[in-house]
Amino acid sequence: MAPIVSGFSKLSKADKIKWLAEHHFDNDVTATNTLITYWNSDDQLQRLHDEFTENTISNYYLPFSVAPNFLINGKRYTIPMTIEESSVVAAASKAAKFWQTRGGFKAKVLSAIKVGQVHFTYTGNVEKLNQFFNKTQDILIASASHITKNMEKRGGGVKEIELRDKTSEISNYYQLHCTFETADAMGANFINSCLEQFAKTLVSEAKEYSGFTETEKNIEIIMSILSNYVPECLVRASVSCSVNELPNTTQLSAKQYAKKFVRAVNIAEIEPYRAVTHNKGIMNGIDAVVLATGNDFRAIEAGAHAYASRNGKYTSLTHAEIKNNIFTFSIEIPLALGTVGGLTNLHPLVKLALQLLGKPNAKKLMEITAVAGLAQNFAAINSLITTGIQRGHMKMHLMNILNQFEATEIEKVQLIKYFKTNTVTHSDVATQIEKLRK
Ligand code: MEV
Repeated sequence: MAPIVSGFSKLSKADKIKWLAEHHFDNDVTATNTLITYWNSDDQLQRLHDEFTENTISNYYLPFSVAPNFLINGKRYTIPMTIEESSVVAAASKAAKFWQTRGGFKAKVLSAIKVGQVHFTYTGNVEKLNQFFNKTQDILIASASHITKNMEKRGGGVKEIELRDKTSEISNYYQLHCTFETADAMGANFINSCLEQFAKTLVSEAKEYSGFTETEKNIEIIMSILSNYVPECLVRASVSCSVNELPNTTQLSAKQYAKKFVRAVNIAEIEPYRAVTHNKGIMNGIDAVVLATGNDFRAIEAGAHAYASRNGKYTSLTHAEIKNNIFTFSIEIPLALGTVGGLTNLHPLVKLALQLLGKPNAKKLMEITAVAGLAQNFAAINSLITTGIQRGHMKMHLMNILNQFEATEIEKVQLIKYFKTNTVTHSDVATQIEKLRK
């Protein structure tokens, strides 16, 4: 077991690695070399990455890929995607290509409101708290003007502060439920700074309020923090075409395909076990764009799944229907994204990703990202209701399996050819490699 270490963060990078080698890798140079192999030869670039977080000892690469041919609101996009799962980019590209000749994707931001809360305890008369709040509301907002003035110039700011009584659930518990617009920033730092200021002002104003008793003056702030549940930071994307334009195979006519597709979505709407996997597939597309554009994928994941259970039961984020022989497939998802601040001006690949998308504002990025999720879901359901998922998935995974077996370039060429007409399975790759090597 490694010993307790103090002052680790203050060690140099080389000393951190030395400590790890000694206590975790039996001084094996391979471990040290692996870490060093991933350093960037450009010192300045490496320093930039080192400074993103604490205790950075190396870089962790993920593929930076692109999915071309996305027609969104009449404009063509090549979408950057950062993801390790082998079939995701191919699936997105395939869906993009399919829909570009059928009118493309339509997308629209429905609202862009974000939420933050000051959670506090007040012991006393509720009516008096309400009166105090009504008197103090403007003072709270004014007290944060040094934080909000720049955001207001960019079209954002504090929208509303509401006092919420939560005492039926926890005794003496109240909230300032605050709404914000944050223009092109994701806005976490802005919102949290505002909330912390509101909390300070709430406490100091309560102390001075003559209507309160000594006990009532003692408002205790429990915490001030933004919420990643953003049901009003919502975007909708959809595709639609005549049923006759849907895939038509010997196994399924276009009409049967449409019905089977809608049925598959209906299952995800009512069955949580399916809905979670269905939405996971949507998040394959969404997270990949969120990561490539330097946004916070944990926030997006948390918000999306909370939204999927907003009515008390976890359900699908997408919906499909056939009406008057028109097939429509759509997604509605909360996406609190930013195109300024955070990593967006720092990480060279993030800057490039945003450039690739034509330097979108936050709303445009919400639309593009929702489309990536819808496309991914379309591709997944298309495979599930026709060939099954493994055919495409294993085809894309073949290279990973070949690399696991340390296949040579010649072996790879031969086996890629073989698996063009044979189903890829891990065991068959093993058998074929063994045959080649005999
Ligand atoms: C795999 O990463 C995602 C899928 O399972 C999604 C789905 O089942 O809809 C293919």
